[in-house]
Amino acid sequence: MIRIENVSKRYEKSYAVRNLSLTVAKGELCCLIGPSGCGKSTTLKMINRMIAPSSGTITVDGVDVHEVPVATLRRRMGYVIQSIGLFPHMTVLANIQVVPRLLRWEESRSRKRALELLELLGLSPDTYGGKYPAELSGGQAQRVGVARALAADPQILLMDEPFGALDPISREHLQNQFLAIQQELHKTIVFVTHDIDEAVRLGTKVALLRDGRLVQYGSPEQLLAAPADAFVKKFVGLDRALKRLSRLLAADFLHPANSVARQAPPELLEAEFRRLEGSDCARYLWVTDEENRLVGWVDGNNTTEKRLNMLEDLVEIDPADISVRPGYSLKQALAMFVQQSVACLPVVDDERRLQGEIRLADVLKS
Ligand SMILES: Nc1ncnc2c1ncn2[C@@H]1O[C@H](COP(=O)(O)OP(=O)(O)O)[C@@H](O)[C@H]1O
Ligand SMILES: [Mg+2]
Repeated sequence: MIRIENVSKRYEKSYAVRNLSLTVAKGELCCLIGPSGCGKSTTLKMINRMIAPSSGTITVDGVDVHEVPVATLRRRMGYVIQSIGLFPHMTVLANIQVVPRLLRWEESRSRKRALELLELLGLSPDTYGGKYPAELSGGQAQRVGVARALAADPQILLMDEPFGALDPISREHLQNQFLAIQQELHKTIVFVTHDIDEAVRLGTKVALLRDGRLVQYGSPEQLLAAPADAFVKKFVGLDRALKRLSRLLAADFLHPANSVARQAPPELLEAEFRRLEGSDCARYLWVTDEENRLVGWVDGNNTTEKRLNMLEDLVEIDPADISVRPGYSLKQALAMFVQQSVACLPVVDDERRLQGEIRLADVLKS
């Protein structure tokens, strides 16, 4: 746990950070966000003592960071920065092994660790291990930077705009990968960014700074749903409703699906529609095969005759076109609702098996 208590950093003319108090619990990913110059990097650097606070204290697991030898402290904290990249004269593997070698790990252990980390970050060790930083793309170099920070298995990761230099597509890709890695490793992370979408996407907590002061601290949902003031509101943007949807999962809004087997007799189909009448989702019956895989639907707005024809001459659909996966965000689902102009969509698993349905009304209410 990292606890920042009433910390200020004063330069001659002004404060870079002012009366900052902030606690990051174990396993949390806290995004420090705010406009340029608001004190994000200064805060990060005070945690690993690259900068000394003018007043206040910072403790890690209850121990004041100034009571721990600097080398010991930094070994416990992986540090990733945007600009100062890798050592250009060292190969990728050597770059990742820097800290383990400083710690005098056995060469075989340190090399094994570096190879594992390359794999974890989606870089083939055979292809990339021997390359030099100049031979890497921006995204690859940033992956190596993350691998290097993770090398000695620190409890804490401090990351200063680590994906800042990437184009939006590689950035999103690396964010996804990073989230997957974090779900496995449960590091305590302080992550600096100026990109609110990134903060909302990655953070379990978001701390918004302005002019060195903390304006609001909470879960991304809290910031988006209840901005503390006009500044936060403006910062999180007019599309905050959409951003909130990007944090919510379809799986959490699942309703039981109304379905019929594709061999169902006409009476059953009509009985089902009668049963659904009056419910808020009476328009569709999903059609499934013997294995409960989605193969199509019958639109209840049609005449009885047409419905029966629909079942009989069922046009098999590609579920990818109309169905939602449980792991989709409601933002993704909303895009499909709009695209298909429907009020209800089926949710299927990886094998196309029907899991339930989600409703537009829920998305609009959430
Ligand atoms: N060494 C320094 N001397 C004087 N002012 C500084 C120094 N370092 C940073 N500052 C000022 O402190 C403020 C916060 O800087 P920084 O933490 O780097 O901001 P951020 O990372 O949020 O963009 C800025 O106004 C910056 O100009
Ligand atoms: Mg900065």
